[in-house]
Amino acid sequence: MNNFSFAGRDLCGAALAPMAGLSDLTLRTLAAEYGAVFTVSEMVSAKAIVMGDKKTRALCTPTPGQALYGIQLFGNEPEVVAEAARMLKEEFAPDFLDINMGCPAPKIVGNGCGSSLMKNPALCGRMVEGAVAAGLPVSVKMRTGFDENHMTAVEVARCCESAGASLLTVHGRTRAQQYTPPIHPEEIARVVQAVKLPVLGNGDILTAEDALQLKSQTGCAGVMVGRGALGNLWLFRQIRAVLAGEPVPPPPTLAQRMELLCRQAKGMCEEKGEETAIKQARTQAIYYLKGLRGAASFRSRATGLTVYRDVVELRDAVLAANAEETRPVEEEVFRKPILKG
Ligand SMILES: Cc1cc2nc3c(=O)[nH]c(=O)nc-3n(C[C@H](O)[C@H](O)[C@H](O)COP(=O)(O)O)c2cc1C
Repeated sequence: MNNFSFAGRDLCGAALAPMAGLSDLTLRTLAAEYGAVFTVSEMVSAKAIVMGDKKTRALCTPTPGQALYGIQLFGNEPEVVAEAARMLKEEFAPDFLDINMGCPAPKIVGNGCGSSLMKNPALCGRMVEGAVAAGLPVSVKMRTGFDENHMTAVEVARCCESAGASLLTVHGRTRAQQYTPPIHPEEIARVVQAVKLPVLGNGDILTAEDALQLKSQTGCAGVMVGRGALGNLWLFRQIRAVLAGEPVPPPPTLAQRMELLCRQAKGMCEEKGEETAIKQARTQAIYYLKGLRGAASFRSRATGLTVYRDVVELRDAVLAANAEETRPVEEEVFRKPILKG
């Protein structure tokens, strides 16, 4: 039984993780189309929402389509989170709100937000209470703790559950571990056992097999995928199939990957204008180029993309250099994440 209930739906598959600077409207739209059970905005500051900051509000545009959509808030003042939640519900009508208790960035932690909250489980509960008051389902994205002296995930999870949260996602590392060392499935399992809420496991899922393994190691209700989905949105279809006990669809061909890169870049241009979009598309492009023959030279070309036409020319050059390559991309290609947060 690989389904779980959240926000009034019965879900089976993987969610797209919130990723600041990456999970923009275009990536979320494509992820939903490729079978993500829900998508979440990049993290937005509760304070900035309350102050009416336009740039922050621009990050909240709901993902179109059938999949659930949530807006992720960071902050550390329950009253501000409550007000931001109320405003977001009114303006964007998301399906749920998510509270960030995992961001390790020094600027965020230094202000007592993100993973800093893992040191104060009671405050975590009050943050959830504030958001729940807006009348939307609330989820929480946390780590296993702040550091090895603050392994608080179980306590934080219980406080969030009592405060009315509907779902928890646990990234299997502490703040001190950032993004690199292997995750700790046993810490995710402790949270699964401590609460009745659905818990999603997160961290280093790069293949459908990884999703199955994390589920069996932790008993988690579902999984959330971040870096593994970059350049490989087919992963959502594969995970959904494997969890539903259906045959796993084959990985994409090189031509399909290059087409999707162009589609994503085009979508980003429409979303935020060509100049900003193509600069940001450089990172996304590097993921699409993983494992290719001549990847190193294509990667350096990707770092210089400036207009949409460059993306199309990159696609053409990649396909020309790999003309005889019609096999699906080997799964091994997707094994190594590039970004470390
Ligand atoms: C570039 C980048 C930006 C991220 N931004 C956020 C964020 O805004 N909110 C959040 O909760 N997690 C954020 N994360 C963490 C991811 O959601 C996820 O928990 C983490 O990358 C581990 O999952 P993965 O191995 O599947 O990527 C970010 C991660 C990366 C790499």
